[in-house]
Amino acid sequence: MSTEYQDGRQENRVENYTKFWQKDVNKEGETDNQNRVENYTDVINGYYDGATELYEYGWAQSFHFSRFYKGEAFAASLARHEHYLASQMSLRPGMRVLDVGCGVGGPAREIARFADVNIVGLNNNDFQIQRARKYTKRAGLEDNITFVKGDFMKLSEQFGPNSFDAVYAIEATVHAPTWEGVYGEIMKVLKPGGVFGVYEWCMTDAWDPSIPSHKALGHEIEFGNGIPEMRPLAKAREAMKTVGFVIEHEEDLAERHDEVPWYYPLEGDVWKAQTAWDYFTVWRMSWSGKLVSHNAIRMLEFCGFLPKGTWEVGESLKTAADALVRGGQTKLFTPMYLAVCRKPAEN
Ligand SMILES: C[S@@+](CC[C@H](N)C(=O)[O-])C[C@H]1O[C@@H](n2cnc3c(N)ncnc32)[C@H](O)[C@@H]1O
Repeated sequence: MSTEYQDGRQENRVENYTKFWQKDVNKEGETDNQNRVENYTDVINGYYDGATELYEYGWAQSFHFSRFYKGEAFAASLARHEHYLASQMSLRPGMRVLDVGCGVGGPAREIARFADVNIVGLNNNDFQIQRARKYTKRAGLEDNITFVKGDFMKLSEQFGPNSFDAVYAIEATVHAPTWEGVYGEIMKVLKPGGVFGVYEWCMTDAWDPSIPSHKALGHEIEFGNGIPEMRPLAKAREAMKTVGFVIEHEEDLAERHDEVPWYYPLEGDVWKAQTAWDYFTVWRMSWSGKLVSHNAIRMLEFCGFLPKGTWEVGESLKTAADALVRGGQTKLFTPMYLAVCRKPAEN
């Protein structure tokens, strides 16, 4: 039995994340997705117990990617991506909205302010929920946003049918063991006529796992991001339709011809920073920035200020960054397949 700390993290869970992946390589050196899919809760919680503070330090309180126009500040771009989803979903004041896989609540706070909606943030990671509540109170938004612990594969058990006017998920449902499972649950908790908007992480249709380099790319993205299994975009679309959604709008936003690509902050090239302040964000991903954090995390972990295993999760984040940039450059991966779906109204 592992002890739960006051901050919601669990002893040994971070450490077990990398052990889990080592165990996961079978005799032929092939990886065993089945094992990870079946144990998705452990994989994801182990990962986020370790990665949450690193994300907040190296990125922001919104744990997602975004598009950039030339000269656009990093924080503005994250917010614009959230506003874009809210506007594509036509969120209206007073709607009751579910944020599936809400992280530490960065998007929920922005969308609540932007669209004047009431949001329930759902997450299965206690550590993130505690932080989400703290930041939301600090922002004075606790009357508009509540956070609850729960598994997005069991939404209807938790909320009952027809509970929300709208549901959105930002770069979260890729963690689901199956897309049919999570989309099916979203379908149930939506009111008839309700809208579901998602930014999904997918391998694109150009990805062919029978090509060893493509398969390796998929696996690096899985390992570096706590994902049980990377799947192609066509499968996401098919799953939405299978569970009964009508897709009203879909687009892979990574296919837009942006002069500044979505993955630029991960490249670690400070000359590409779009504003002076963003030098710091980009620098953290440069070789010198990584070296500094590498040593700092090691020291903090050694002194007991970070849970054991955080350094190793940090190492996996480096694998993630390299793989995501490669996936973006080759267009084999997208973190921004946007779909806006409708639950049919009852006759
Ligand atoms: C990449 S983060 C995105 C967080 C947030 N949407 C944002 O953009 O800041 C993925 C989130 O999904 C959550 N998550 C993963 N699997 C989950 C599950 N089975 N049930 C609920 N939340 C889950 C993680 O804990 C994490 O907060």
